[in-house]
Amino acid sequence: MNTTLNRSWADMPRPIVCLAPMDGITDSAFRRLVRGFSAEVVLFSEFTSADGFLRSERLRQRLVYDPVEHPYFVQLFGNNPEAFREAALVLEQQGVAGVDINMGCPSRKIVHSQHGSDLMRNVQQACDIVTAVAGATRMQVSVKTRLGWNNADNLIPFASALVDAGASLITIHGRTYDQGFSGRADWSPIYALKEALSVPVLGNGDVSHRDDGLARMGNLDGFMIGRAAIGNPWAFLPEAQRTPSLQARVDVMRRHYELMRQDRPPRRAVLEFRKHMVGYLRGFDLAKSARISLLQAPDEAALLQRLELLAQGPHVLARAG
Ligand SMILES: Cc1cc2nc3c(=O)[nH]c(=O)nc-3n(C[C@H](O)[C@H](O)[C@H](O)COP(=O)(O)O)c2cc1C
Repeated sequence: MNTTLNRSWADMPRPIVCLAPMDGITDSAFRRLVRGFSAEVVLFSEFTSADGFLRSERLRQRLVYDPVEHPYFVQLFGNNPEAFREAALVLEQQGVAGVDINMGCPSRKIVHSQHGSDLMRNVQQACDIVTAVAGATRMQVSVKTRLGWNNADNLIPFASALVDAGASLITIHGRTYDQGFSGRADWSPIYALKEALSVPVLGNGDVSHRDDGLARMGNLDGFMIGRAAIGNPWAFLPEAQRTPSLQARVDVMRRHYELMRQDRPPRRAVLEFRKHMVGYLRGFDLAKSARISLLQAPDEAALLQRLELLAQGPHVLARAG
């Protein structure tokens, strides 16, 4: 068994470097790919509805993981403490390292259902969810949230209440709900929060790679990398290893696609791989036509053939396109 599996957040080696949970991105295939790059990265699932998890076999399947993914944390969203409790009990049986509770998603649909960011406006409900999970299981319970609704004035009281309710780690994305993804992430309120809390605190927002995270970390225990890791698992490596050759890049793309194919039919894999490919192709000086020919590959055979041409050189793909 992995020795980090049952380690508490407080005992994890520093810096704690995480792949941020990203819906539609951080599935098991991508998590396994990232694990191949770094044994230290802590992996989070895509967010998943606590109620949906209990009702839907499809959603339960989405959270299935491979032991190499440990330490693996599942992120749940919702607002019903009982559903969180029941889902957590099932996840504990499945051996996940802990449950992270989403209190930061700003999407309209999520917030209108009083989930995600809306929990920042409902402190009692937020704490009831944490207590429900922490009281029912021996797993680590963490919360990922934002600076606040429209400013950071309540960050310390809110996060302190979550810790009193049983949270053993808090991650803060340095933007407010109002900001969505606009503007720059502000980490200064996160540093101030760390001074006030007794549990580890992670910073998140605009980290472009591991060294950038280390430079921003200040008094924090670690950081999460999100968007910068899409199509760029090299983000978790030290600088000297972050500029792979063309061949290495294409090999990783192929490996990623193969991992996706292990739990999907070809048609779905080709479609879902496109999101990742946009990220991978940021690393290439590629003619627009060649880029489009890859992103619009109609089926698996075309995708693999075009990747083969790319491996021979962007100009080879461009000429064929
Ligand atoms: C496509 C996408 C999906 C996301 N899904 C989730 C999610 O499921 N749960 C969550 O807590 N945050 C989610 N986020 C937010 C990220 O975890 C992270 O907080 C945000 O992108 C800021 O970090 P970054 O600048 O490193 O990307 C998502 C972000 C993106 C771009």
